[in-house]
Amino acid sequence: MSTFDTNITRAARLMHSSHYTVAFTGAGISVESGIPPFRGGDGLWDKVDPSFLEIDYFYQQPEKSWKVIREIFYQYLGKARPNIAHCVLARLEENNLLHALITQNIDNLHQQAGNQDVIEFHGTTGRLICTRCGQTIGESDKINHLIEILPPRCPECGGLLKPDFVFFSEMIPESARDRSFAAARKASVFIIIGTSGEVFPAAMLPTNAKRAGATVIEVNTEPSSYTHQVTDIFLQGKASTVLETLEQALNSNNQVS
Ligand code: APR
Repeated sequence: MSTFDTNITRAARLMHSSHYTVAFTGAGISVESGIPPFRGGDGLWDKVDPSFLEIDYFYQQPEKSWKVIREIFYQYLGKARPNIAHCVLARLEENNLLHALITQNIDNLHQQAGNQDVIEFHGTTGRLICTRCGQTIGESDKINHLIEILPPRCPECGGLLKPDFVFFSEMIPESARDRSFAAARKASVFIIIGTSGEVFPAAMLPTNAKRAGATVIEVNTEPSSYTHQVTDIFLQGKASTVLETLEQALNSNNQVS
């Protein structure tokens, strides 16, 4: 049996005996849905100037900032659909083999795949929020209509609408932050999927889970900053291939036990 196969078997056994399994995802899980990662060869930040997503710039130049946001996150990336990896995580949640899902991604693909409780550490493009009255809009057809004219205005009060994701220099939503760190402390198995671990405070979650006693499984096409420091079982490969193989192992374990 190859090292990969041995590690898959180990990971499946751990997940079956785990009382609280947490998945922590980054841009890598959405690459096979056609969404480029942020860093690395063809990273998004090589194409898009991240200063458009600085919160001060957004309030100073809402129309210019929204023009980039609409083009990148709604017209280009908005057409992406969940891939096998997202769908496996939704089935694991349904089968009570996944107890918390924390994502750094704002692409809304876990929600579309069917996960019922996604902790959106950096928020989501799936909602707009009024910067004046706090009203949120989650229906995609309403969002697409509202962003036809930039900057979009709140239908209730006329205030400036903002995508409900975390801009650079903006605080992480308190609820998402607190729930994420609580889940990391409680985890017996913590699965890292497709993240370079370069952005804080999200990047602290695997280390906190490890310190609290979790076994850390990592899925990535290449080693990350976690692999030699925090990871106990490294499953190298594309998220869809690895998660599909892991699900098969979980199902065959079910038949055996
Ligand atoms: N399957 C699994 N992993 C993959 C795949 C794939 N098909 N393709 C790429 N990866 C890995 C890369 O090796 C890399 O380690 O996914 C990771 C993507 O890293 P980043 O692009 O840095 O994305 P992420 O870690 O999610 O960035 C964190 O940075 O800019 C901010 O807010 C943004 O949430 C984002 C945060």
